[in-house]
Amino acid sequence: MFQIKKICCIGAGYVGGPTCSVIAQMCPEIQVTVVDVNESRIKAWNSDTLPIYEVNTPTKTYGMGKGRAADLKYIEACARRIVEVSNGYKIVTEKSTVPVRAAESIRRIFDANTKPSLNLQVLSNPEFLAEGTAVRDLKEPDRVLIGGDETAEGQRAIRALSCVYERWVPQTRIITTNTWSSELSKLAANAFLAQRISSINSISALCEATGADVEEVARAIGMDQRIGSKFLKASVGFGGSCFQKDVLNLVYLCEALNLPEVASYWQQVIDMNEYQRRRFACRIIDCLFNTVTGKKIALLGFSFKKDTGDTRQSSSIYISQYLLDEGANLHIYDPKVLKQQIQQDLSSTSEPNRVSELVTVTTDPYQACQSAHALVICTEWDMFKDLDYERIYQRMLKPAFLFDGRRVLDHLHPQLQSIGFQIETIGKKVTSVRIPYTPSASLAEPPSKKPKI
Ligand code: UDX
Repeated sequence: MFQIKKICCIGAGYVGGPTCSVIAQMCPEIQVTVVDVNESRIKAWNSDTLPIYEVNTPTKTYGMGKGRAADLKYIEACARRIVEVSNGYKIVTEKSTVPVRAAESIRRIFDANTKPSLNLQVLSNPEFLAEGTAVRDLKEPDRVLIGGDETAEGQRAIRALSCVYERWVPQTRIITTNTWSSELSKLAANAFLAQRISSINSISALCEATGADVEEVARAIGMDQRIGSKFLKASVGFGGSCFQKDVLNLVYLCEALNLPEVASYWQQVIDMNEYQRRRFACRIIDCLFNTVTGKKIALLGFSFKKDTGDTRQSSSIYISQYLLDEGANLHIYDPKVLKQQIQQDLSSTSEPNRVSELVTVTTDPYQACQSAHALVICTEWDMFKDLDYERIYQRMLKPAFLFDGRRVLDHLHPQLQSIGFQIETIGKKVTSVRIPYTPSASLAEPPSKKPKI
């Protein structure tokens, strides 16, 4: 049987770095080399300060499929380079999310450029790791998925790769499929996860209107083993580099395959997420007596989830943008995200002058709350549970509003209420006197459909 002795990984980012580190640790007899076009990234991996970078399969920003289709130009360039520099038998494995049928494109590039000395097999082996838990996800994966050709050659390649994982993953957790199933499973897994969040967020809207509590509903439905309790946390909407990108990719694929009903079904997952962000921003404005113009709002948390400095597709960006469009003064605090990053993210969706005029980024949460009309929690950082709310309340204007978009302060409600806070929580009935707010043009539609001001 063919045995893998050397692995070269192209891309030293969030997938390549941890994956190869774990393979190298688990398989000392395999020589693992990681390469990257970004020299400073490689230097950082070889230093004590590891780079917090992401491997990217960017969405196209131009032409057909703009904003939705994955941009394959890097993968194509990579495939051509592999043919150029390789000889002998090689297994080429796609790991980062690629569109369904990417393996076929890679194979066609190989076939069209092949040389007698070369024998290339293409496998799909998607990565399911999440930020913040990457090494654990790699060491104890729920499953390892390997897709390949149904030919004898394809099966041989699958077997060889499977042997690498079998060093530390039980065989029962290694599934093999055809290439397309493997590619589609990655998109489908992310789409199902995103769908669960949109589903619970849709229920949170219903809870706020009826008096039910979304946490209680989530607990009750999650105990049904068929449903399960994970990924049922209502929030200000999901963010991150994968969910929106992969769902949109799925929608695009369905449209391209003439399956409009399927496409619009999945599009709803994105629409619901945008609605949730908008709804939360509207609730803030409603409660603040229908206007936030000129009001100081402290926004705590800018990363897309806790324990990462990553802000890609973070709901904080969208909520900030809605509030900025209404003329609010935002004072933003995040324990990990750098000031420049916040300014850059907001300037990409709002007019840069407006951002410099209305946004202050601070390194002190208490300073952010000084003379603020409202405090808005957008990310579930643990440290927000331990802030001195008595001190915060004293600094704020009254009534002091606290909007918890992540349910991080649930356990503190009686205490916070006795301090005097007016608390508004996602998925719980609105408690303030609320003047229903008629959204201005800016809040009436998602930012993705709006021209940049
Ligand atoms: C995700 C997938 O989990 C992972 O398997 C895939 O390989 C990459 O994409 P990641 O983007 O790192 O990983 O984060 P994840 O923990 O899945 O959270 C995504 C977003 O959903 C975050 O904004 C998070 O706050 C939000 N979320 C998650 C909720 O709002 N509610 C939940 O119950 C769970």
